[in-house]
Amino acid sequence: MQIDFKPQFDAQAVAFLVHDADLSTIGDDAASEALRRAVEAAPRFAGKPGQIVEAMGPQGVNAKRLLAVGVGPGPSVRDFEKAAAGLVKRLLTTGVESLDIVGAPSTEACARLGLGAQLAAYRFDGYRTKLKDDKKPTLTTLGVVIDDVEAAETEFAPLKAAADGTAVARDLVTEPPNVLHPESYAERIEALSDLGLEIKVLDEPAMAELGMGSLLGVGQGSIRGSRLCVISWMGAGDKDTAPVALVGKGVTFDTGGISLKPGAGMEDMKGDMGGSAAVVGAMVALAKRKAKANVVGLVGLVENMPDGNAIRPGDILTSASGQTIEIHNTDAEGRLVLADVLWYAQENYKPRAIVDLATLTGAIVISLGHEYAGLFSNNDDLAGQLSAAGDAEGEPVWRMPLGGAYDKLIDSPVADMKNVGGRAGGSITAAQFLQRFIENDTPWAHLDIAGTAWRPGDAGALEPTWASGYGPRLLDRWIKDNYED
Ligand code: BES
Ligand code: MN
Ligand code: ZN
Repeated sequence: MQIDFKPQFDAQAVAFLVHDADLSTIGDDAASEALRRAVEAAPRFAGKPGQIVEAMGPQGVNAKRLLAVGVGPGPSVRDFEKAAAGLVKRLLTTGVESLDIVGAPSTEACARLGLGAQLAAYRFDGYRTKLKDDKKPTLTTLGVVIDDVEAAETEFAPLKAAADGTAVARDLVTEPPNVLHPESYAERIEALSDLGLEIKVLDEPAMAELGMGSLLGVGQGSIRGSRLCVISWMGAGDKDTAPVALVGKGVTFDTGGISLKPGAGMEDMKGDMGGSAAVVGAMVALAKRKAKANVVGLVGLVENMPDGNAIRPGDILTSASGQTIEIHNTDAEGRLVLADVLWYAQENYKPRAIVDLATLTGAIVISLGHEYAGLFSNNDDLAGQLSAAGDAEGEPVWRMPLGGAYDKLIDSPVADMKNVGGRAGGSITAAQFLQRFIENDTPWAHLDIAGTAWRPGDAGALEPTWASGYGPRLLDRWIKDNYED
């Protein structure tokens, strides 16, 4: 979707922002009169964020279609996003090609309208060969009316970068696992060098050399080679400043391995690389807005398959850190992948902070549903920063506990640890496992996004069904607010 800022409306459809059902913002010309009558004919219209009433453009008015869209009483940035998203969803496939929005009170509101529109216009149609013409999107341009066009453009540019990053994450999570496997995924990541990102890919021999028996163990039942991709954006004035590290779980399909998952719903496990998609999307956003920060994204890409060569319950793996892991369940594979990637990140980059994202546990879905990601951290400041960024961008996190009593639950009788801690506190023992691979003085946070990377049903106009694209906006905001020159 092309998004423009302009001083006057001239599109086929024109939408007026209204606070509650207060129509004073829409003026008193012929268009406003038509809208006023339409609102009168819709007594339930209360101007809630995203709520819409439509009218035909009367004679003498250029716009053929008029809309009133609610932004609520004291609109937040999210209310503007929702209003634009509601409009885009309403008009996307109607045949209308252009829409202008009137009544934005500030350049910030303009930028958020643009963001909401872009997020809502997202589609994944590449595999449809029979999409009927009347189901194809027609709305291609959105104009937001504002006097200070340049200021609005400046404010929108970084949000557009974040929306592009979100779209990248959605695409990756939605891609089918026969198309997106570790090898093809790594190739896609390599192509991001076009954006000025520096990409390094480690293949299996390179990882074996580093002793990454934990990550490699997970991939060993797959015919696809595992990969570790390092994506760097060194945008700070001082390239020697230690970077922030973003680490992502990239299990391109999780069958459970020998501890095979039940069949029902297994197709969702193509999204088990959602943590890595959030990292890749965030790196795209940072590069596109030329963030003045040093950031390195590291993603462990593997496929967890049952096979004659797959790891078994009872096997003991040696991780790159030297710590040994007794496998009790091959379906607890994400932590095995992250163990080696976390170690690699600290060993090579001595990062100022590490945030990892992973669709790690079904238990976090039981705890928090599909609204909040679980946040685990060894550092209160970092936890606070991430909470604030999540709230600001509508990708919220909820802090969960860590502690020695939970840690004990993953002690193994024969190795340094086992890879599961039992049913109780399943998300917490998973986080404890990860913490065993974090050096004490490294500020670290783990986001369990198993409930938020994809969601069942209709999650509102800002999102497509299923793949939410959770993560890039939160991470981008966190870096912008805390690590930028
Ligand atoms: N990828 C799953 C977690 C998951 C479950 C993500 C549901 C999204 C939705 C992970 O690899 C897994 O299988 N975890 C197991 C851990 C258990 C064996 C300790 C789980 O949650 O059941
Ligand atoms: Mn699993
Ligand atoms: Zn998994």
